[in-house]
Amino acid sequence: MVDKQTVRDGYDVAAEAYVRERSFDEPEQQLFERFLDSLVADPLVLDAGCGAGMPILERLVDRFDEHSTIGLDFSSRQLALAKERFGATPLVAGDMAQLPIAESTLDAVVAFYSLIHLPESQHQQALAEFSRVLRPGGRLLVSEGTDQWEGRNDDWLAAGAEMEWHIAGATATREHLRTTGFHIERELEVSDVLVDGESWVFFEALNR
Ligand SMILES: C[S@@+](CC[C@H](N)C(=O)[O-])C[C@H]1O[C@@H](n2cnc3c(N)ncnc32)[C@H](O)[C@@H]1O
Repeated sequence: MVDKQTVRDGYDVAAEAYVRERSFDEPEQQLFERFLDSLVADPLVLDAGCGAGMPILERLVDRFDEHSTIGLDFSSRQLALAKERFGATPLVAGDMAQLPIAESTLDAVVAFYSLIHLPESQHQQALAEFSRVLRPGGRLLVSEGTDQWEGRNDDWLAAGAEMEWHIAGATATREHLRTTGFHIERELEVSDVLVDGESWVFFEALNR
């Protein structure tokens, strides 16, 4: 079972290595741009599990402005790196399964590769939190692994960091989204650039 403290400590250790390894390939860029096109003018967007802000927070700030975006992460090192680049953007230390944000305040939530680090029992809770902070009609873009998997790595990214994942998989995530009040509008599968045969599914969903 995923231990959140291990994940948080792991990102504190591996923050720089993660930034170096993070790619942003064409299919992911395209689906993100299309999602951004679908938002209302001057939206308020939460990047949940923003890490150091590269590339997602950066794109949000470029596309809108630094006051349109809130970055949230529970790794202090990741947030410190984000502050170096995005000092004018609100950056919040917090847990995506218990958001320190008032209800119905946001137009959109994006969560790239962060839900996959929650314990199994908290995946649905995090999606319920996204629904709570989104206004009715607000939009969500969230990634998951296609197939259920749980595991750990004792030297992740060769950075000396322990890391753990619980990937709920597409079937469970579909169900969690429906249960928490989202209407799924689109699902897109994107190949993992690092691991042959692995892929991710991105859900675009509307908060009812
Ligand atoms: C794989 S990184 C993704 C970073 C960024 N979203 C991206 O697209 O590259 C996962 C991030 O989620 C954060 N994270 C994991 N679990 C979290 C939680 N429960 N609450 C807040 N942040 C969390 C980690 O600290 C890490 O920065």
